[in-house]
Amino acid sequence: MMELIKNKEYLVRIFDVNENGFGVGKIDDFIVFVDGAIYDETVLIKLVKVKKSFGYGKLLKIVRTSPVRTEPVCDVFKRCGGCCFQHIDYSAQLKLKSKFVKDALERIGGFRDIQVLNTIGMENPYNYRNKAQFPVGVFDGKLAFGFYQPRSHNIVNVSNCVIQNTVNEKIISVFKDFMTRFNIKPYDEKNHSGIVRHIVTRVGSVTGEVMVCVVINGKKLPHTDALVESLREISRISTIVINYNSVRTNAVLGSDISIIYGKGFIYDYIGEFKFEISPLSFFQVNSVQTCVLYQIALDFAGLRGDETVIDAYCGIGTISLFLSKKAKFVFGVEIVPQAVENAVKNARINNVSNIRFILGKSEEVIPVLCESQGVIPDVLVLDPPRKGCDIKLIEMILEVLPPKIVYVSCNPSTLARDLRLMSENYNISKVQPVDMFCFTGHVETVVLLTKYRK
Ligand SMILES: C[S@@+](CC[C@H](N)C(=O)[O-])C[C@H]1O[C@@H](n2cnc3c(N)ncnc32)[C@H](O)[C@@H]1O
Repeated sequence: MMELIKNKEYLVRIFDVNENGFGVGKIDDFIVFVDGAIYDETVLIKLVKVKKSFGYGKLLKIVRTSPVRTEPVCDVFKRCGGCCFQHIDYSAQLKLKSKFVKDALERIGGFRDIQVLNTIGMENPYNYRNKAQFPVGVFDGKLAFGFYQPRSHNIVNVSNCVIQNTVNEKIISVFKDFMTRFNIKPYDEKNHSGIVRHIVTRVGSVTGEVMVCVVINGKKLPHTDALVESLREISRISTIVINYNSVRTNAVLGSDISIIYGKGFIYDYIGEFKFEISPLSFFQVNSVQTCVLYQIALDFAGLRGDETVIDAYCGIGTISLFLSKKAKFVFGVEIVPQAVENAVKNARINNVSNIRFILGKSEEVIPVLCESQGVIPDVLVLDPPRKGCDIKLIEMILEVLPPKIVYVSCNPSTLARDLRLMSENYNISKVQPVDMFCFTGHVETVVLLTKYRK
């Protein structure tokens, strides 16, 4: 293999794109990742990092352009770390996402020749997010509200993000005026000083209700009356809360909340169901695609009306309620107390009685349900966070062996790892990716697992 020299320029043919938006090419047998390059392109790069078998190149010039390259609509694309695919045509993004899932299932799961269906995309992939988290800080000596730059905590000012709800522009503008007028300092990570850390917003896509959550360092946000007055001028604001997070951490939210205006939660609908959503509860960020996702989960579950279903990692009971209309009884298990409170209320609001929500870890609660309380699940739904299922839960599954498992995953790598652990007993019958996070490298996947007959 030829010797590669850092800071030297090379011409590279790109043959793939990874989840971070890096084109993948080769110089000889040496793999080079080039931020912003796309397959079917030939690019001139400067080699900026050289490892043993791979390196990173800085894109200098596109010599041959990929047919799927398109003009990014956002003016801070690449400076902001939010999106990584705005330079790629939307239908090509969807194909890439199916490929990411297939690659993970093959590479990590060890599954060969697995059929992954085409990723279901959105008709309009813009302004789809119902939740925004704006870090607040100082950048270039000025107050900054926006998103972190890629791989850093520098904040890029973003006032009109194309994947967020447009109401956020008005909210950010109110905070800029408020903090300037009363000289309220943004949080400084390095010195652990200042007050305002994040502005988190949630918008009900059907109800239009808006929740504003101000995350602060310390115990007091001064002049809240003035803040409430200004925010209320934005017509759709229905509740404003303060979240207290005084820990040196990357986690956005702390565990304590106080309500300074309204009821402390918003309502929204997914399909026919109405949901109460609190600041600390998980709620899927793309309401339009959530409806699609849950319908697939329901179809995969193939319920006839006499089944017992366990919905592990149930959040505020969204999938559980969808399943309840076709099942005999549904148990939902969730670790966050506020989410379980929401779930119980959500069942009541929707007049659903064939359902019970249990607070606790799935890996601890479900073994007790199945082994001590004699519950025999016909269908088990798994929708864990990015880290996937706890090994104790997988061990329990392999003992109880429910006939069907519907696995909903937001991380193809941990999905593949968990499926591999179950592969001796379960056949992967269907794999359906759904684009919940347009223009980013993330993809949601629903998998149907059916138990082998032995
Ligand atoms: C990806 S979300 C899915 C929530 C819900 N199914 C939905 O579609 O909105 C994962 C949920 O698992 C919860 N969670 C995390 N670890 C858990 C555990 N060990 N046991 C039970 N729930 C857990 C989180 O609080 C979160 O609500």
